[in-house]
Amino acid sequence: MKSLKYLVVAFLAIFLVACGAKGGDSGSGKTYNVGVAIYKFDDNFMTLYREELENYFGELSKKTGDKYVLDIQDGKQDQATQTEQINNFIAQGKDVILANLVDPTAAGSIINSAKSANIPVVLINREPEVSELEIWPGKTSYVGADATQSGTFQGEIIAATDSKGDLNGDGVVNYITLFGDPANVDAQQRTTYSVKALEDAGIKKAALAEPYLANWDTAKGQEVTASALEQFGDKLEVVFANNDGMAVGAVTAIKAAKRTVGKDILVVGVDAIPDAMELLAKGELTGTVLNDHFNQSHTAANVAVKLMNGEDVESYYWVDYVKVTKKEDSELKEAEPRTETTKEAKERYAKRDK
Ligand code: GAL
Repeated sequence: MKSLKYLVVAFLAIFLVACGAKGGDSGSGKTYNVGVAIYKFDDNFMTLYREELENYFGELSKKTGDKYVLDIQDGKQDQATQTEQINNFIAQGKDVILANLVDPTAAGSIINSAKSANIPVVLINREPEVSELEIWPGKTSYVGADATQSGTFQGEIIAATDSKGDLNGDGVVNYITLFGDPANVDAQQRTTYSVKALEDAGIKKAALAEPYLANWDTAKGQEVTASALEQFGDKLEVVFANNDGMAVGAVTAIKAAKRTVGKDILVVGVDAIPDAMELLAKGELTGTVLNDHFNQSHTAANVAVKLMNGEDVESYYWVDYVKVTKKEDSELKEAEPRTETTKEAKERYAKRDK
């Protein structure tokens, strides 16, 4: 009887150890500390991104049995504040740093500091110079979307409408641009490539004004569009907004001026945030471009996990934008990112910028 008791206890012990060790598919029940620096919390698109990043790390934890502790900091759109937050991550010995920089030109010094502490870095959302990714190859990546593609899609959406943007039929598309943020590659490239796509489609266009700085912001987008409408009246046919936040503001101003989107003015944004999708469903927004926060955040997390496992990673991971003119276009589904080396990126940029 006594020996049976021992047998049961021994069996139970083995069983418990086996369960404890299992934990999940591949992990070993380790805890990883991830420092996440966001340029500012008060941003529609980056909020969707941040929430999905948290969700996805949670899913990974469940799947692998490893624990990912996220320390997410709000850079409050101030590089000095953010640099301090990242220096704290380094001092705390985080296992990896994910950085959505306030000012992408800070990338070099941040990568150098992280490198000296042997902490890999994943840059997200704001593309740095290629040279910054050459500082510590294998341990630094940029995960993002190619902003030239989003600009091109915006122009193509306008070119594909019945009027091709020339609503008053005078042979020229008169437009304004609502500009995101001067330090942001996305804003610069969307501004250039939206209009280039009209040109490439053989459409004549004329800017009614220099791009209006509206800092990705809805209230500012509304304010500058209202004054453009006052100044240019019926001449204004197309509003290119660097993001949906500003496009939503533009639509409010257009309605207040008693003009109708689709009939006598066209508006196109980028991001496919819920507010913009609501307007689109009502026919009050011409189109937008999905800035795929879902796959961007998943890819950033997957790259971070690889780095925490000691693996080397690619320099670039690109997630495609998607043209959105109806609700279904913005559906989120898993997609494989495209990878690129710094050499390939340099060659591509040299060709593109000719
Ligand atoms: C862009 C996005 C903007 C804003 C910006 C922040 O990709 O379209 O809405 O979130 O990133 O850097």
